[in-house]
Order: sequence, then structure tokens, then C-alpha cells
Amino acid sequence: MACPENMYIIGLLMSGVLTDFPRFDLITTMPTELVVLNGSCVQIPCAFNIREEHSQTFNKSKNVFGVWIKQSHIVGPDKVIFNSSKEVNIYQGNITGNMSQKNCTTVFFNVLSSYTNKYYFRIDSTQYRATDNEKFVYINVTELTPKPEMAVLGEIREMTHISINCSAVASCPEHPPKLTWTLPTEFTHEDRLQENPDQTKSVLSTVTFIASYLHNKTNITCTAVYPVGTYNKTSEQTRTLHVLFSPKDTTASISPADPVSVGSCVNLTCAGTANPPVTNFTWFRISGGKTTQVASRQNYTLNVTVGDGGQYYCEARNDLGFGKSQEVKLSITGQYNVINPRIYEIGVKTLGISFLFSFITCFACLRKSKLTNDLEMTDI
Ligand SMILES: *[C@@H]1O[C@H](CO)[C@@H](O)[C@H](O)[C@H]1NC(C)=O
Ligand SMILES: *[C@@H]1O[C@H](CO)[C@@H](O)[C@H](O)[C@H]1NC(C)=O
Ligand SMILES: *[C@@H]1O[C@H](CO)[C@@H](O)[C@H](O)[C@H]1NC(C)=O
Ligand SMILES: *[C@@H]1O[C@H](CO)[C@@H](O)[C@H](O)[C@H]1NC(C)=O
Ligand SMILES: *[C@@H]1O[C@H](CO)[C@@H](O)[C@H](O)[C@H]1NC(C)=O
Ligand SMILES: *[C@@H]1O[C@H](CO)[C@@H](O)[C@H](O)[C@H]1NC(C)=O
Ligand SMILES: *[C@@H]1O[C@H](CO)[C@@H](O)[C@H](O)[C@H]1NC(C)=O
Ligand SMILES: *[C@@H]1O[C@H](CO)[C@@H](O)[C@H](O)[C@H]1NC(C)=O
Ligand SMILES: *[C@@H]1O[C@H](CO)[C@@H](O)[C@H](O)[C@H]1NC(C)=O
Ligand SMILES: *[C@@H]1O[C@H](CO)[C@@H](O)[C@H](O)[C@H]1NC(C)=O
Ligand SMILES: *[C@@H]1O[C@H](CO)[C@@H](O)[C@H](O)[C@H]1NC(C)=O
Repeated sequence: MACPENMYIIGLLMSGVLTDFPRFDLITTMPTELVVLNGSCVQIPCAFNIREEHSQTFNKSKNVFGVWIKQSHIVGPDKVIFNSSKEVNIYQGNITGNMSQKNCTTVFFNVLSSYTNKYYFRIDSTQYRATDNEKFVYINVTELTPKPEMAVLGEIREMTHISINCSAVASCPEHPPKLTWTLPTEFTHEDRLQENPDQTKSVLSTVTFIASYLHNKTNITCTAVYPVGTYNKTSEQTRTLHVLFSPKDTTASISPADPVSVGSCVNLTCAGTANPPVTNFTWFRISGGKTTQVASRQNYTLNVTVGDGGQYYCEARNDLGFGKSQEVKLSITGQYNVINPRIYEIGVKTLGISFLFSFITCFACLRKSKLTNDLEMTDI
């Protein structure tokens, strides 16, 4: 004699077996979630398959209709929101896929925030009726404009052609977003609608430009403009460019700039910009038509000696190359010809000799006049 409890368990098991059976009758493929802008449209990429033993039933069927059920897989009068028979069209929709080719792709127009929910697909026909109880698409209606995606940019080299991708989801491919770019330079861009692995669509824009050192640390922006009804919604993504370049704008400066006297202090400073930073500064002096390396640091301080006058320039170097500055002049006061200090020496000596000579002459003069006076005195 079977207990009622046992019979209940057997009943449960049987119902389990029974519900298991139609579960695999209709197998749908669709994305797990779709994010949609309020007021826009949504395309649900959808495909279905029918279990082999029911395939013939389906093939023989006439008047095949696609049905979308909200919230649960259970068919209820207020749960069916779309029936391609046009019996129910609570949501303005259209099955754009070819059902004979097992394509149940559907578009819903004028999506409202109250549409946020789970949706199940069902087929109703003369012979074949089934819902995929397992698979649903979650439609998430939002006011937030989705941000376009742009990869984080690595370091780029100056004078190279750069291509950057920006993509924006197009949940409503009938009215895809338009992508625009803001760049610190001239550029060209190419846009196309592409299909993602889950069959949803995106607009991909590829921008191309030539990187210059002037673009280092500047921003690049990709803006997505989504048409929603009569207005546009925009969102943007910004990335900073990191450009690697050899030293640029290398300048040499001298302080003080005015002629200096021997024994005073003079600073020569080399400046410039580079990425990566300058690793090596070198100072050169041009004198007497010869160039000599005089120091290997950014600031070159000298205690001026007679031979230091001349033209100076510096070089800044990093891994990518070097930059050369203009020439600056170090002039020494009282020194007219910096090219040959010997002439100065000769000049000084000549001056000294002539001074001595005139001193001797003068002394002789004085002495002579004194002698005359003495003589006159003695005369008196
Ligand atoms: C049903 O039709 C499809 C093509 O639409 C075919 O591949 C399949 O074999 C058919 N099934 C049966 C049982 O006839
Ligand atoms: C969809 O419409 C067809 C044709 O009017 C009808 O037979 C079917 O029952 C409807 N499906 C649902 C789930 O309402
Ligand atoms: C539904 O989609 C089909 C196929 O894309 C198209 O031919 C038809 O005009 C659409 N109907 C409506 C009402 O938009
Ligand atoms: C299904 O139909 C849509 C048109 O609504 C089309 O874009 C898509 O490529 C079709 N899918 C397949 C797998 O053919
Ligand atoms: C749907 O596909 C069937 C066969 O696969 C074809 O005969 C029919 O013309 C297609 N319908 C449309 C509207 O493209
Ligand atoms: C941009 O996207 C295309 C298509 O997905 C890809 O082939 C290309 O490599 C991408 N380019 C960059 C720079 O990421
Ligand atoms: C570049 O963008 C960042 C944020 O992405 C911002 O903080 C920075 O101020 C921008 N720089 C310029 C020069 O606009
Ligand atoms: C929306 O953006 C498009 C370009 O993407 C522009 O042509 C159109 O004038 C804009 N409409 C409004 C209302 O701003
Ligand atoms: C030269 O530089 C040193 C420190 O680097 C500073 O103390 C000095 O005042 C500078 N002299 C001139 C003339 O600029
Ligand atoms: C320059 O050198 C001389 C001799 O070596 C020294 O007497 C003088 O103080 C130095 N001047 C400065 C500004 O260092
Ligand atoms: C710096 O550059 C100069 C000139 O190119 C070179 O002679 C010197 O060896 C370099 N020094 C270093 C530390 O690399």
C-alpha cells in the first residue's frame, strides 16, 4: 500500500520529467543584456533552433508567429507584449529576421524606462508551440548615454602614423550614434557599423594622424552623438597622448649676458624638452675655428680666464637622438680680439713700454730743467 507522501514525490518526479521535456524544445540564442537609451529603439539579435524530433512538426507548420513574453516564460494576457500575428503589439515592434531561416531578430521602437525587464521568446503556429524557458534577454533602459570605448594609449613615437579606435554601442542600429573626434592636429577618420560576437552592433571609428612632439600630454576626445527622437544625447571619452621624442627647442643662455671681466663668474645654461628626459648635456666652445667639448652637464659655471672668450653652444641627448642649441657669445671686457689673446698681450706690453719710455723722457726733461735752474741759481 503506497503512502500519500510517496505518491506526491512520484508526482513531483513525473512533473519534473514532463517539464524537462519541452524545456529543450525551443533553443534560442540572444544576448544576455541590452542597454538601451530611453526613447530610442532596440534591436534584439535572436536565432532559434528546434529539437530534431520536432523539426518536422515545425517544418509542416503554417502561420508561424513570434511572441515576446515579459518577466517570465509563462504566457499570461498581460505578459505577452508582442505577437507578430499583430494580435498583440503593446510594444511597437517588428520581427525583422526571416523566421523561415530561424532568425527571430526583433526591433522595438520608442523604448520607455518601464520596459526594463526580462524577455522570453515563444513560437506559435498551427502545429508547433513552444517557449524557451531557459533563455531570456534583459533589457536595461537607461537615461545615461553610454560612453564610447577607447583603449588606453601606450607611448607613441613622434613622426609615426597613429591609428586609434573608438567604438560606441548601437543598440538601435537604425539610428546609430555618430562619432566625432577632437585632436590637436589634422586627422582623417573612417567609420563603420560592426557586429560584435553576441550579434549586437557597434559603430567603430578609426582615426589616423601623424604624431608630433607637440602632441605630448595633449588630449584626444571621441564623442558619441545618439539621436533620440527629436534631440541628441552625447557622451565622450578622453585619453592623453604620450609621445616619445628626441630633444627639441634646445637653447643655450649665458648669465650675465654683458661682457665680463677676467676672474668673474659666468653661468652657461642649456635647456630643452625631451621625452624621455635628456640624459646628457654637453657644452662646446668654438674658438679660432676649432670646436672643443668643454663640459658635460646642464649648467656650466666658469671663473673667466683670458682664454675663455668665444662662441658656446650645447647639445642635449636622449635615447632617441639629440638637439643642438644656437650659439651664445662670451665676451671679456677690455679684450677686443677674443680670437688671439696674444695680440692683447703684445698691446699691453707695447703700452707699458711706451709709458716707460715717456716716463724716462719726462724724467729726463725734469732733470734737465732742474739742472738749468740750479745753474741759474748758481749764476745768481
Ligand atoms: C526542416 O527544414 C530544415 C530547413 O529549413 C531542414 O534542414 C530540416 O532537415 C527539416 N527537418 C525535417 C525533419 O524535415
Ligand atoms: C499569437 O497570435 C496568434 C494568431 O492570432 C495566436 O494563435 C497565438 O495564440 C498568439 N500567441 C499568444 C502567446 O498570444
Ligand atoms: C518590418 O521589417 C520588415 C523586414 O525588415 C520590413 O520589410 C517591414 O517594412 C517592417 N515593418 C514595419 C511596420 O516596420
Ligand atoms: C537575422 O536578421 C537580421 C535582420 O533583421 C540580420 O541583420 C541578421 O544578419 C540575420 N541573422 C542571421 C544569422 O542571418
Ligand atoms: C525567408 O527565407 C525563405 C527561405 O529560407 C525565403 O524563401 C523567403 O523569401 C525569405 N523571406 C524574406 C522576406 O526574405
Ligand atoms: C581597430 O579595430 C579594427 C577592427 O576591430 C582592428 O582590426 C584594428 O587592429 C584596431 N586598431 C587598433 C589600433 O586597435
Ligand atoms: C585632459 O584630460 C584629463 C582628464 O581625462 C583632464 O584632467 C585634463 O585637464 C585634460 N587636459 C587638457 C589640456 O585639456
Ligand atoms: C543631432 O546631431 C546631428 C549630427 O550627428 C546633427 O546633424 C543634428 O542637427 C543634431 N540635432 C540636434 C537637434 O541637435
Ligand atoms: C650662477 O649659478 C650659481 C648657482 O648655479 C648662482 O649661485 C650664481 O648666482 C649664478 N651667477 C650668475 C651670474 O648668474
Ligand atoms: C676666480 O679664480 C681666481 C683665481 O683662481 C680667484 O682668486 C677668484 O676668487 C675666482 N673668482 C670667483 C668669482 O670665484
Ligand atoms: C655625452 O655626449 C657627449 C657628446 O656626444 C659624449 O662625448 C659623452 O660621452 C656623453 N656622456 C655620457 C655620460 O653619455
